[in-house]
This record gives sequence, C-alpha cells and structure tokens, in this order.
Amino acid sequence: MSLTIALSKGRILKDTLPLLAEAGIELLEDPEQSRKLIFPTSREGVQIVILRATDVPTFVQNGAADIGVAGKDVLVEHGAEGMYELVDLQIAKCRLMTAGKVGAARPNRRLRVATKFVNIAKRYYAEQGEQVELIKLYGSMELAPIMDLADLIVDVVDTGKTLKENGLEPRDLIMPVSSRLIVNKTAMKLKQARIQPLVDQLQAAVDRRQ
Ligand code: ADP
Ligand code: PRP
Ligand code: MG
Repeated sequence: MSLTIALSKGRILKDTLPLLAEAGIELLEDPEQSRKLIFPTSREGVQIVILRATDVPTFVQNGAADIGVAGKDVLVEHGAEGMYELVDLQIAKCRLMTAGKVGAARPNRRLRVATKFVNIAKRYYAEQGEQVELIKLYGSMELAPIMDLADLIVDVVDTGKTLKENGLEPRDLIMPVSSRLIVNKTAMKLKQARIQPLVDQLQAAVDRRQ
C-alpha cells in the first residue's frame, strides 16, 4: 500500500521536510536541486510529489495524492470538498489582507480589487456589503494599485516588506493563514492504518514546537 504526499517547492517544502523527518520520512535527494517531480523517501512505499502550491488541493481532492500540505489561503480559495484538513502545521504563517496605495483616498465609484484569491475576495466584499470589480491576477499583485489597474489588492502579507517597498500599506485583515495537512477522504478510509500514525506523528512534532 503506497502513500503519495504532495508538497510545493519553496517555503512549504522547506518547512515541511523537518516535520516529516521527525515522523521518520526523509528525502533521499534534494528536490530544490532536481528537475524530477516524484521522489522516493527513506520510508518504504512513501513518495513525495512536487506541485505548484495552488495545485496541491486538486491532486489530493482527486486522490492522485493521498496527502498534501497547502496554505489555508489556497484551501479556502479552492474549497475543501473530498478532503479532511487534519493538522495545522503552524508553518508558512502569514495573513491574508487587503492593501492599497499609502494614503490613497477611496474613489467615488465601485472599487476595483486585484487578486489571485477571487473566490475569497468575492465572499469577503459580499460580507462587507461592498460591490467590487474583481481583477484576476496570477502574481505580483502589488503592481496593480501602482499601475492604476486596481484600487486595492487582496494578498498574503508576512513582514509587510513587499507592500512597503512598493508604496502600499496593509488595510483590513481577512484571515490568518498557516499551512495545513490535508488528506483525501477515500484514502483515509482505505489506507487508515498507514495514514493515521503519520498524522499523529506530525501532530506530535507540531505540539513539541509550541
Ligand atoms: P506560490 O507563491 O507559488 O503560490 P509560495 O511557496 O510562495 O507559493 O506560498 C505557499 C503558501 O505559503 C501560500 O499559500 C501561503 O499560505 C504561504 N505564504 C505565501 N507567502 C508567504 C510569506 N511571505 N510568508 C509566509 N507564508 C507565506
Ligand atoms: C509572497 C506574497 C507577497 C509577499 C509578502 O510572495 O505574494 O508578495 O510574500 O511577504 P512580506 O510581507 O514578508 O513581504 P513570495 O515571497 O511568495 O514571492 P512570489 O511572488 O514568488 O510568490
Ligand atoms: Mg509566493
């Protein structure tokens, strides 16, 4: 019974590997130095696949991967159907926020909001009773207000350095974000004997850090 874990390169991979190591799962090769996308591990029958962060929920939802690690922002944006969110790994912590040009006044028309989190933004502004025009972007959201593509952005903020260096300021908090361990619901049934111990070991590793 093999187990496939989906991770994304960058901060999630970097921060998840030490937790997996505590659960006895280690990579035999550094994915950051390789063009491979599938990696065997020190644990028999456990492999790690490397995806784009936003694709992790898709692979887990469809059972192409049994387990994955994804930011809460990506999970809420994608929807959690078909998966369990079992552990808050307390890594890749940041905040999903609105931001705008420093000191910019509210325009006298419908707000234009640029973001890659269109579902979250739609819901957030609906809750605020605010009708906005959403502009879907795939990155460098900070450019949108500067280039007058949008009045506001919805993006993740950690230190605030990116906003500051681009003449923007944080406005409203939408949600705090950390990365979560997600498990395919069917895999959880069929492979519980393999998955549950791993979930418990990861939870214990997280608890030891708090
Ligand atoms: P990508 O930008 O390619 O989607 P990242 O590795 O940058 O992938 O982000 C993965 C997850 O890490 C995000 O979904 C979010 O939860 C979190 N994250 C993003 N940016 C930051 C940051 N600056 N500091 C901390 N966590 C972050
Ligand atoms: C993320 C995010 C912001 C930045 C916020 O970008 O999209 O731009 O971090 O972090 P800060 O508040 O500490 O500046 P990331 O570093 O992931 O770069 P990316 O454009 O490659 O996603
Ligand atoms: Mg990023």
